[in-house]
Amino acid sequence: MEVCPLLPAQCNQAAQVTATATEGWSSAALEETLAHGTGQVFGLWEDEALLGVAVFQLVLEEASLEGITLLPDCRGKGLGKLFLARCLEQLKSGGAETCFLEVRSQNQPAIALYEGMGFLKMGMRKNFYRNPPDHALTYRLDF
Ligand SMILES: CC(C)(COP(=O)(O)OP(=O)(O)OC[C@H]1O[C@@H](n2cnc3c(N)ncnc32)[C@H](O)[C@@H]1OP(=O)(O)O)[C@@H](O)C(=O)NCCC(=O)NCCS
Repeated sequence: MEVCPLLPAQCNQAAQVTATATEGWSSAALEETLAHGTGQVFGLWEDEALLGVAVFQLVLEEASLEGITLLPDCRGKGLGKLFLARCLEQLKSGGAETCFLEVRSQNQPAIALYEGMGFLKMGMRKNFYRNPPDHALTYRLDF
């Protein structure tokens, strides 16, 4: 398993991975994120196969996780934890001191992942999400 920054030529493949989540990213949106100086996108690779994609923004010392998706067959096996830990290490090397995120209040696997990695709950944004409607829980991790 390898975690590497995503290359523009890999955005199509990455979009297919994110399409398996509730909120996917189009290839164009991923390319735009990469082109923007603050966008940081990582891929989890096993040989040639892209198993996961994580999208962050990094502004000065503040990172924010915009989304993390594994292919459905790869979920629930500890890979999310490994992937997110490696992404955070790379962000830390790039100067990040803190990571913020928002998560759907009904997304138990994601909440378990974040809390298991030490993210602390800060609050809730009511009715933040649509399709389906849900509240957002906000979390923070200081490195
Ligand atoms: C969220 C996601 C990245 C987590 O990755 P994962 O590989 O499935 O999670 P892991 O196997 O590494 O498990 C991490 C923790 O979550 C828990 N967990 C995993 N699946 C779970 C489930 N279905 N219900 C409850 N807890 C679960 C694990 O027990 C583990 O907790 P622990 O460290 O206390 O043992 C993955 O499930 C996914 O891609 N989901 C769809 C997209 C998504 O919802 N992304 C998050 C919002 S952007």
